[in-house]
Amino acid sequence: MTTSGPPAPEDLWGGRFHKELDPQARDFHSSVRFDWRLFPYDIRGSMAHARMLGRCGIIPQEDADRICEGLESILSDLSTGRLAVDPRAEDIHSFVEAELTRRIGDAGKRLHTARSRNDQVAVDTRMYVRDAIDGLAGRLHDGQQALVDLAGRYLDVIMPGYTHLQRAQPVLFAHHCLAYFEMFFRDRERLADCRRRADVCPLGAGALAGVPYPVDREGVARELGFAAVAANSLDAVSDRDYVIELVSALALIMVHLSRLGEELVLWASQEFGFVEVDDAFATGSSIMPQKKNPDMAELVRGKAGRVFGHLQALLAMMKGLPLAYNKDMQEDKEALFDAVDTAAACLGVMVPMLRSLRVRGDRTLAATRQGFLNATDLADYLVQRGVPFREAHRLVGQAVARCLETGRALEDLSLEELRALSPVIEEDVYAVLDIRRCVDARNSRGGTARAQVEQALAEARRRLAGRKPPQQPGEPALG
Ligand code: ARG
Repeated sequence: MTTSGPPAPEDLWGGRFHKELDPQARDFHSSVRFDWRLFPYDIRGSMAHARMLGRCGIIPQEDADRICEGLESILSDLSTGRLAVDPRAEDIHSFVEAELTRRIGDAGKRLHTARSRNDQVAVDTRMYVRDAIDGLAGRLHDGQQALVDLAGRYLDVIMPGYTHLQRAQPVLFAHHCLAYFEMFFRDRERLADCRRRADVCPLGAGALAGVPYPVDREGVARELGFAAVAANSLDAVSDRDYVIELVSALALIMVHLSRLGEELVLWASQEFGFVEVDDAFATGSSIMPQKKNPDMAELVRGKAGRVFGHLQALLAMMKGLPLAYNKDMQEDKEALFDAVDTAAACLGVMVPMLRSLRVRGDRTLAATRQGFLNATDLADYLVQRGVPFREAHRLVGQAVARCLETGRALEDLSLEELRALSPVIEEDVYAVLDIRRCVDARNSRGGTARAQVEQALAEARRRLAGRKPPQQPGEPALG
């Protein structure tokens, strides 16, 4: 940290000290290099606070007006880049306050009446969290839309469904897409739920115990768009549940995205060959001219880990902290910002990649021809003709073993061979073994039969149309 150049900003708390802060200590405790991002919220919060101070007669109305004008000009200058945040400031709150006083003089020194940085940082972060959630919910909505479109575009495509990554039973590709639709749906619900609890205004809690002024907490909360005011001043400045809840919801989003990323990596391989990632979302090799790598999907898979790490860091940081504010809590911001940025970036690349994905229906269908995906259907056929399921399972297992010896599929066995297994088998068995018929047989609600998937797709479209995300004031917060 250099001490040359214009004078360093004055500390907010210099009065009782006899020494300057040690330069390393100053650098160590400063948060401005990351919390500068809170400036739009910090300034809006301060304007609501100042207006309330004026309205309630706590500071002269003309001072409140000058404060608001000054804050407005700082907001505009920071937004347009005319004003840069001083990296030597302690945090964004002290920077804005110092800049305000520099611009409007003594009136600026009245802004911090009936407020502490403890309730201030909490209100800023809660506003950021609300916007981040709105932005992320919008991206998840776009992801759901992309999945629905993909499902609709490839409604005829049949692919192997897997368990243990072994071919199991055939499913519609659209059915697979709609599984992720459901995950994203739950993700949005979790975000909305987290937003509800974040939407509580801590201003007025002061440092920890409330403030000895006739403040209008409800008015401030209303102006800042909060649904409620925090009920307990100690909790208001100590609570970081909303940060942990959001990052935990993000961790689950990353679990889902990483699973999708992994499937895209597998499916784009020569071994599977199920999909082709658009050139705009793939990269080549610096040495192997033939390579086309699904880097974006791999990165999404890889970035999940850092969000899980942030969640762990936040939980460990909060564990065992005595009430009320502790400086440890300043550590929440980098974790929060990076978790939000990471999830937003992953959705930002995953969604257009899905939109431009090409699915090789010939390859997925060919894959259903090997691996006895219709074995369960043969067992079910026997069950329909009175064979107990456990016995049918054993018989079909024997048929599979026979096929494996001779390199055939079940439908390649002659009627004679099949009847040797069980005399209840007749010519109609071949229709039952047809892969498309196997898909359509699974007509239980939520199953993969074409009729079910068409219904699920229509329902998904209806759900998407009915649950438009709010306007996205959060986009800037997502960087
Ligand atoms: N930069 C601080 C944080 O993020 C702001 C609150 C500081 N409060 C205090 N009492 N030092 O937590």
